Amino acid sequence: GDARVQGIFDAIRVVPDFPKPGIMFQDITTLLLDHKAFRDCIDIFVERYKDKNISVVAGIEARGFIFGPPIALAIGAKFVPIRKPKKLPGEVISEEYALEYGTDRIEMHVGAVQPGDRTLVVDDLIATGGTLSAAMRLLERVGAEVVECACVIELPELKGRERLGGKPLFILVESA
Ligand code: PRP
Ligand code: MG
Repeated sequence: GDARVQGIFDAIRVVPDFPKPGIMFQDITTLLLDHKAFRDCIDIFVERYKDKNISVVAGIEARGFIFGPPIALAIGAKFVPIRKPKKLPGEVISEEYALEYGTDRIEMHVGAVQPGDRTLVVDDLIATGGTLSAAMRLLERVGAEVVECACVIELPELKGRERLGGKPLFILVESA
């Protein structure tokens, strides 16, 4: 294994019963306060993707906006924000995904990603996989090639990985 991963794991604060009873919230704000652990996170992603001809890093609002841009800058890729509804001013395409109660939606600017763009999708965490799979549908609709999805944390019990249609998912740490 990678010796840096333990430090990343240790820097993530787990907050029981937030935002609701029974949820073990994975708080990455403490990781952001730990310069070495945050640096190590970005370095591990950059080492993995720097020679993979990635042209676009797509980050998902809000926490994908923390990890995506430093990766994009370091590997020489564009950064494309995938946003919550009604935030983007240009023409958008959108995809819905299921929440525990009801649905939510994410949007992307038409023209930001070109057909054939080799795209890395970045978020902080995969739980049910609903968010990442909706992001992948957006990218595939515009003809992008989704190379991989990358997250800091996976909650493996929720089996979100199985919703990614066989697309590879790279993660740094697993949590309960
Ligand atoms: C959280 C997390 C992931 C998503 C994972 O985002 O940052 O984006 O949930 O859940 P899933 O795999 O079940 O879809 P959330 O929408 O709660 O809010 P954020 O704006 O703070 O990122
Ligand atoms: Mg999120």
